[in-house]
Amino acid sequence: MKTNVTCWGILGALDREVALLREQMQVESTEQLLGTEFLSGTIYGQKVVVACCGIGKVNATACATYLLFAKGCDAIINAGIAGGVAHGLHTLDVVISRELCFHDQDAVMLKYFPARQFFEADPTLRKCCAEVCTQPGLLTGKWREGRIATGDKFVADSATRDAIIAAVAPDCVEMEGAAIAHVAFAAGKPCLVIRTMSDCADDDATTTYDNFLERAADQSARIVLGMLKNAD
Ligand code: ADE
Repeated sequence: MKTNVTCWGILGALDREVALLREQMQVESTEQLLGTEFLSGTIYGQKVVVACCGIGKVNATACATYLLFAKGCDAIINAGIAGGVAHGLHTLDVVISRELCFHDQDAVMLKYFPARQFFEADPTLRKCCAEVCTQPGLLTGKWREGRIATGDKFVADSATRDAIIAAVAPDCVEMEGAAIAHVAFAAGKPCLVIRTMSDCADDDATTTYDNFLERAADQSARIVLGMLKNAD
């Protein structure tokens, strides 16, 4: 499908979240910076820069800014895992960003640039991703488009989870997506976040996360690979 992307910036927070992408990549150059390694090259003929940004909003912001302003990327995909909090969402289900927000932001921040609570994902990238998710046999779980909430916190107890649901009603929680979407918004570039549920951000989250991390991370990476395969 036509995306008009000439160079894809692809970020995962953990090594496992970019592992399958690295495997499929023809690497042309590498650069060590910001505590990580930026790999430039191609995947299925598409120009890409791939990095593991590390967890949290600051790491994600630094790497997203670098991809868009120094590496010539004109779109950003963030792929990885999340804690599912919406009704009916289970481990290995997928949430594609319809919009992203922060769950740990004071309301006063909404008065200042960018003065918005929600960052919308790019419609063309959403469509490209939806086409991949509807391919028979690709996903283990179900998929949906939804709201992703980001904060500098691993949510692993029901009280915190319930407070986040009451505040911003997300489908899932993670630690980088809205920061990347915020940078993309400020830069005027398209962005999409793809998350497979590794846990349900509840009292069992730490154990569930350990059991599902690898399968969940690989599934999100496979969706990105599908998008790159279909892109022209
Ligand atoms: N990423 C995966 N699971 C998460 C959780 N429960 N909280 C925050 N980020 C996550």
